[in-house]
Amino acid sequence: MSDRVEASVLEISELTKRFGGVTAVNRCSLALAPGRIYGLIGPNGSGKTTLFDCITGLIVRDGGTVRFRGRRIDGLPPHRVAALGVGRTFQVIRVFPELTALENLLVVSRRDRDGALRRARELLAFVRLDELAAEYAGNLSYGQQKLLEFVRVLMLGPTVVLLDEPAAGVNRTLLNELLAAIRRLRDEGRTILIVEHDMKVVMGLCEHVFVLDYGEKIAEGPPEEIQRDERVIEAYFGR
Ligand SMILES: Nc1ncnc2c1ncn2[C@@H]1O[C@H](COP(=O)(O)OP(=O)(O)OP(=O)(O)O)[C@@H](O)[C@H]1O
Ligand SMILES: [Mg+2]
Repeated sequence: MSDRVEASVLEISELTKRFGGVTAVNRCSLALAPGRIYGLIGPNGSGKTTLFDCITGLIVRDGGTVRFRGRRIDGLPPHRVAALGVGRTFQVIRVFPELTALENLLVVSRRDRDGALRRARELLAFVRLDELAAEYAGNLSYGQQKLLEFVRVLMLGPTVVLLDEPAAGVNRTLLNELLAAIRRLRDEGRTILIVEHDMKVVMGLCEHVFVLDYGEKIAEGPPEEIQRDERVIEAYFGR
């Protein structure tokens, strides 16, 4: 095994996904080191969500490999990928409105009920939703529902957390809660890959950014460099 594989907690190599005539992800390679916050950006339809879907086993890729801690996870079903330690949120909110905030966390399967209850309460406090534990999720604000979805991913203690636009539509106060929580996760040694359209958020949060355009990785590097990259500027503003 190369040094690069060992240094990466998640390594995606030459990943490809086609939908009929559309190549949504095109031979995309990225490597994530432990304990860092990465950004994944690109215009609408550039393949960001599809990449997450391939990594987490929600859709079956057409080519390429995904390694988690050196072990192949491509081809595994979503629950296996999640159980191994790769968690993700969805672009469209998937909380259960008719369950309480607390119950939304408890539905994530765990054998140890007492442990799950303790963990769920800790996580609600982590994003300051503890006072709303007994509230129906459907009664929470949009931003609070996004935070709830975010902490639900943390119930299984993931090593890698994939966040698909967690900040979209979230007000300033809750956004700051979210950003602080993401930094705390990093400080615990977890790896975060976040899809985000707001460049200010990306610049302030991410140490390294990957840029997709038409499913291809066109650039990667520190956010300050990415912002000045000709191909990135062209992808965002050139058409
Ligand atoms: N289930 C599907 N069937 C057919 N085409 C799809 C499917 N899912 C995605 N696509 C296409 O694949 C391409 C990539 O879409 P994807 O949703 O991954 O982009 P994205 O970067 O997440 O976009 P956005 O920023 O709008 O969320 C688009 O052309 C999209 O229309
Ligand atoms: Mg998307």
